[in-house]
Amino acid sequence: MMPALQKLMARYQRENIPDIRDLFKQDPDRAARFSIRIDGLLADFSKTSITPETLKILCEAAREAGLEQRRDDMFNGIPINTTEKRAVLHTALRAPDGGGHADVLDARAAMRRFTDEVRKDKKYSDIVNIGIGGSSLGPECVAMALRHEQSPDMRLHFVSNVEASDLDHVLRTINPAKTLFLIASKTFTTAETMQNAAIAKSFMTGHLGQDAVRNHFAALCANPAAARAFGIADNRIFPFAEWVGGRYSVWSSIGLSIMLAIGADKFDQFLQGAHAADQHFRQAPLEKNIPVLMALTGIWHRNICSYPAYACIPYHAGLRRFPAWLQQLDMESSGKHAKHKTGPIVFGEPGTDAQHSFFQWLHQGTDIVPVDFIAAVKTETGTEEQQRMLLANCLAQSSALMLGRSNTQEPHRDFKGNRPSTTLLLDQLTPCTLGLIMAMYEHKIFVQGVMWGINSFDQWGVELGKTVATDIAVLLKDGTQQAPDPSTAALARHIQGL
Ligand code: F6P
Repeated sequence: MMPALQKLMARYQRENIPDIRDLFKQDPDRAARFSIRIDGLLADFSKTSITPETLKILCEAAREAGLEQRRDDMFNGIPINTTEKRAVLHTALRAPDGGGHADVLDARAAMRRFTDEVRKDKKYSDIVNIGIGGSSLGPECVAMALRHEQSPDMRLHFVSNVEASDLDHVLRTINPAKTLFLIASKTFTTAETMQNAAIAKSFMTGHLGQDAVRNHFAALCANPAAARAFGIADNRIFPFAEWVGGRYSVWSSIGLSIMLAIGADKFDQFLQGAHAADQHFRQAPLEKNIPVLMALTGIWHRNICSYPAYACIPYHAGLRRFPAWLQQLDMESSGKHAKHKTGPIVFGEPGTDAQHSFFQWLHQGTDIVPVDFIAAVKTETGTEEQQRMLLANCLAQSSALMLGRSNTQEPHRDFKGNRPSTTLLLDQLTPCTLGLIMAMYEHKIFVQGVMWGINSFDQWGVELGKTVATDIAVLLKDGTQQAPDPSTAALARHIQGL
């Protein structure tokens, strides 16, 4: 752990973390001091217990960790994903010049040509994205968030699970002649995706003959040879580079479902928003840098305050899948072992729904869990009255968590308060501001990874379970594999006995 962080940990134990309410009393300008405004977004960190002094030490720790150099290394394509010996260049995917990579611009142009043709000819009424993890969560999150921007004559479906009911449901509701399947997989080998793709292929060729694969399938991948072997036509293979991590791939051809739904121009705006976040991250001083502040308050909460988790509560029903996207981004990137605490648990649901499920626990539970409140000031649907009520709820929750309300007579009505939160206010939910905020979270995770000394860009932790599942599938099929442990052996016998 960095000396600057150790200094902070020595000075602040859980018991002497400042009370947020006192900080507001001591500093009337606290809200302004800890808010950062950029085009399209206001980020308010004032309802946390960081102070000018702790922020200074946290920034020192970030500098000590070599954050600025590491950030430049990432943007410059140095292979910072050391265990996989890869550069990490998703930022190039949203740079207007493709970060100097001609193949990025070619891929973007091919996606645009295909999208324009499909949208003009109205060839397909249904688009089915088959993919899992980053090959589903990003596009699904964005498509859901921007559904108000979508053509009404095109339905989007996302099938990820190897469990059959989602795919089954889609196959029962589509017209094969008017359906396009997007097989989204960086590796084009992921078991769930390949299984679902094979079933979709057999369904489509059963209805339309062998040409169905050429005319009704496209591949979004970094493994064109495997896509070709599947039977997908060359002009329908939309490639991206190995240096695009799965959970960072929504900006690549993995985003084709989004582009088909909202059109190429609006997809460009989504990329532009993310690019604006990249520029802010590269140029703003650390003390006024939104993703840096997101990361430093995260480090403060995790390593100094020992909070085990944080909740992401978007006050927008369209952002329903945002917490799931963030969960993979954060937990797959930061769930790594080290001598100190690393990534927290991430969970979330849209407000106001979440208020009626787990907010009881946030207000009165015995663990303190910081909240990221996300809202858009202006609405694209509904009335002013609805929007006022929504925003009132969002502001009320962060205020109530912080202020609490003492009631010594009736303990069940006692709210201790001093519960931290961050508020991220978009001017409006648009392709551009959505890209902006998603990229801000990506950079937050990067900064934390640098400070924790972990590789945020690999995911070896998912490998063991995959290998064991392969063996158990054989055990369940014909019993030729040994069960790995007695409990699993007993469960397998039960399954086989039914
Ligand atoms: O769960 C591991 C993982 O590799 C994720 O990082 C990735 O997003 C997902 O599987 C899907 O991988 P692919 O796009 O190669 O099918």
